[in-house]
Amino acid sequence: MRAARFHNYGDPDVLVVEETAEPHAVAGSVRVKVQAVSVNPVDYLLRSGAVRDVLPLSLPAIPGRDAVGIIDEVGEGVSEASIGELVFGLGGVSDTTAEFAVLTAWSPVPSNWSIEQAAAAGLAGATAANVIAALGDLEDKTLLIEGASGAVGTAVASLARAAGARVIGTGRQESHDYLSNLGVVPTTYGAGLAERVAAIAPEGIYAAVHSAPSASLPDLVTIVGEPSRVVTVIDAEGAARLRARKVDAANDSALLHRAADAGRRGLYTPRVDHVLPLSSIQRAHELAKSGAGKIVVTLTTHPVDVTAVFVPLEGEFSNVSRALKDSIDQVREEPGCIRYEITDESEGRIVLTERWESAELLELHGHGTAVQQLGESLSGRLAGPPQIVRSDRAS
Ligand SMILES: NC(=O)c1ccc[n+]([C@@H]2O[C@H](COP(=O)([O-])OP(=O)(O)OC[C@H]3O[C@@H](n4cnc5c(N)ncnc54)[C@H](OP(=O)(O)O)[C@@H]3O)[C@@H](O)[C@H]2O)c1
Repeated sequence: MRAARFHNYGDPDVLVVEETAEPHAVAGSVRVKVQAVSVNPVDYLLRSGAVRDVLPLSLPAIPGRDAVGIIDEVGEGVSEASIGELVFGLGGVSDTTAEFAVLTAWSPVPSNWSIEQAAAAGLAGATAANVIAALGDLEDKTLLIEGASGAVGTAVASLARAAGARVIGTGRQESHDYLSNLGVVPTTYGAGLAERVAAIAPEGIYAAVHSAPSASLPDLVTIVGEPSRVVTVIDAEGAARLRARKVDAANDSALLHRAADAGRRGLYTPRVDHVLPLSSIQRAHELAKSGAGKIVVTLTTHPVDVTAVFVPLEGEFSNVSRALKDSIDQVREEPGCIRYEITDESEGRIVLTERWESAELLELHGHGTAVQQLGESLSGRLAGPPQIVRSDRAS
């Protein structure tokens, strides 16, 4: 299989794309045909060698902690998974940026997430769900998030809002519109945080989450006044010293289910800033480290279209056109279907195009199934069954 790998620790240029052996599902895991992965801070920390003493890798190593893909092998003892299911989830410390990856925690992808959003939800979603579990009931309470604009911060803010919390979140000035759209009251990080937060919430802060690479954990403890309600996902030493709590992601499907459930209810949209192909893995790591936001790497080649031609019987043209337009929202439900639209209406024929994120997703959901169903529902008004033309045109 094709995979990104690094044979030595170092800068992003140690990353190469090369052939390597496929992994296989073992007991308690599933193997996915990977559609996309995200780049998390731990990926560039591992690749650089900065954390080799605590998290040593056996080299050459494949970067990547999370992935979205289609299950193609189910390990022994796994009951909640089926071949062909589209899931997002967590692999080992480093092994997902490849055509196939083994996941030990996973959840079905909500139909209102794109593949890229699902890729970005693995580690961030699991971390956030564990943070929220550690904080307990947040209904009507005020939560401060340091680093709310990041991938983890977005997930924590979204799950906290879903739990009924008021959220104040830090981010650079350019991130404030993004935070406001999340329903978060934005403020900047850095010196004077306690004063800015006190001006926004004079009644005080119930709990705080530290999800930014900053040295602000002591400030958060001071602002909250009770260290047990301050959670960091970064600073283990500071947490031990200040009696705050260190929380990590865990390979636990229940955490991913919670993130996905908030997604399904429209309460959590994973942050995605840049999408790059596997061949740009070096650039993906550079961008992620530079603070350019959340980076997703796609393993699939390009979107594919299914084009179908409907020929209405004489006098039925406008009826067929209207029926097709009415049906569009109903058939465009499967994750992976980017667009479903009428692309031409002329000379007595109506052309419909479905665009899928990848050929694998198209096969998974059945080539042209929606078109065939539409053809059957319109059979009395068509000169014949719709003719399907598959093309690989990419946008
Ligand atoms: N323990 C775990 O299991 C676990 C799991 C996942 C992540 N993490 C850690 O959690 C952190 C966040 O991860 P992520 O994926 O959300 O990263 P990210 O998307 O890069 O987000 C980083 C966040 O930190 C903010 N930030 C950057 N510099 C800052 C500074 N000097 N002071 C305060 N805030 C600053 C950013 O704000 P702007 O972009 O608005 O400037 C952004 O909100 C990383 O350190 C990561 O290693 C831990």
